[in-house]
Amino acid sequence: MSRSAHPAGPRHADVLPEGHYAAPPADLNTLDPRVWSRTVTRAADGAAEVGGLDVRALAEEFGTPAYILDEADFRARCRAWRAAFGHDADVFYAGKAFLSRAVVKWLNEEGLNLDVCSGTELAVALDAGMPAERIALHGNNKSYAEIERAVSAGVGRIVLDSFQEIARVAAEAARQGKRQRVQIRVTVGVEAHTHEFIATAHEDQKFGLALAGGQAAEAVRRVLKLESLELAGIHSHIGSQIFDMAGFEVAARRVVSLLAEVRDEHGVELPEIDLGGGLGIAYTSDDDPREPQEIAKALGEIVTRECEAARLAVPRLSVEPGRAIVGPTAFTLYEVGTVKPLEGLRTYVSVDGGMSDNIRTALYDAEYTVALVSRTSDAEPMLSRVVGKHCESGDIVVKDAFLPADLAPGDLLAVPATGAYCRAMASNYNHALRPPVVAVADGAARVIVRRETEDDLLRLDVG
Ligand SMILES: Cc1ncc(COP(=O)(O)O)c(C=O)c1O
Repeated sequence: MSRSAHPAGPRHADVLPEGHYAAPPADLNTLDPRVWSRTVTRAADGAAEVGGLDVRALAEEFGTPAYILDEADFRARCRAWRAAFGHDADVFYAGKAFLSRAVVKWLNEEGLNLDVCSGTELAVALDAGMPAERIALHGNNKSYAEIERAVSAGVGRIVLDSFQEIARVAAEAARQGKRQRVQIRVTVGVEAHTHEFIATAHEDQKFGLALAGGQAAEAVRRVLKLESLELAGIHSHIGSQIFDMAGFEVAARRVVSLLAEVRDEHGVELPEIDLGGGLGIAYTSDDDPREPQEIAKALGEIVTRECEAARLAVPRLSVEPGRAIVGPTAFTLYEVGTVKPLEGLRTYVSVDGGMSDNIRTALYDAEYTVALVSRTSDAEPMLSRVVGKHCESGDIVVKDAFLPADLAPGDLLAVPATGAYCRAMASNYNHALRPPVVAVADGAARVIVRRETEDDLLRLDVG
């Protein structure tokens, strides 16, 4: 393993990034606890540890790239959400962020419910023992087979997304002689991402039935007429990586006003509202996410106030955090393959994964941070871009990063906050073998999703 130093990469005023990486951090060796999972520390010899295990040993045993998931942190976050929302509300973990049988078992043990958005996510949930009544099925185009499976399993709710789906779910429930609990997903005209929200004209998207224009009210009318459906409530999901509660406030106000309209028109008070997920996490030290306690208090107050104003009984609230639970609990461990300084620009650091294990940078221009974890270094900060090994110049994992100038092939890098939407969105681009997910807890590590093998890919390719 080479450890040869090379000169500090160039820093050019024109290419210096803005925001988090506008200037090098005071100490490149510090692992900011806001960004890293809770049990990550530096051991006395400088290597990072997680769950009491040295990352070099993890790389040795499980190979790189690998997602390293801190089970204690995952469970602690589940407990924090559960405790914050209490017994009058439900927390549905959004399985789309990352789902595996081990995760389902942890959720079950920690008292969370589960939201799935495909028949195969449903299959994993049921296989791993999540009681069907604690599962919600989402999706804007559920197939007949998915509906059939969900109804026959007895899922606690199906979130309806279109007029056609109302008819399909009703027909299937009737065919099975059941009364299926449903919610109607509405679009409230709010779109929220990160620190911003926009409260106009965001009905122009594929999900849900619009409040404006009366589609949502019409959906309620249709569902209430159907014997085989039990309308439990209204669902809204406004966006992702949200820090500001203002968007939820507008969403809650609009959902509650629909509940009041329903009461006035049909004499029925719907017992549930779901305000979706989308709560933000810290990808870099600049991000300042809200704690579950604060989120629960804010949402509870908003809903209570709006219901009191509309003279409605406060419905049972549910939320669907995915990223906010699993996102911070994992990091991706990579080995450095090549280090290429570009004079006047920056240094390109190539790792042994890339857009196949983290598409978020390419897809959403997502910001990540990165650290050298196999050792510490006192070398100068070097403006770097961490890139993957795929045949695509957009194959960037971390767009702007300062790494120590003595970085060399064989060093281990870790990118934190990759628990959500990384393994879940991983691909086989360039026939990459999707990395394993290794759960660590109390000094022990175990593979919960194994690395793909060449045989896996060849078996799919039937020639
Ligand atoms: C309906 C619904 N609920 C929950 C989530 C989870 O969002 P997040 O992981 O950002 O909390 C999503 C994400 O797309 C969603 O569409």
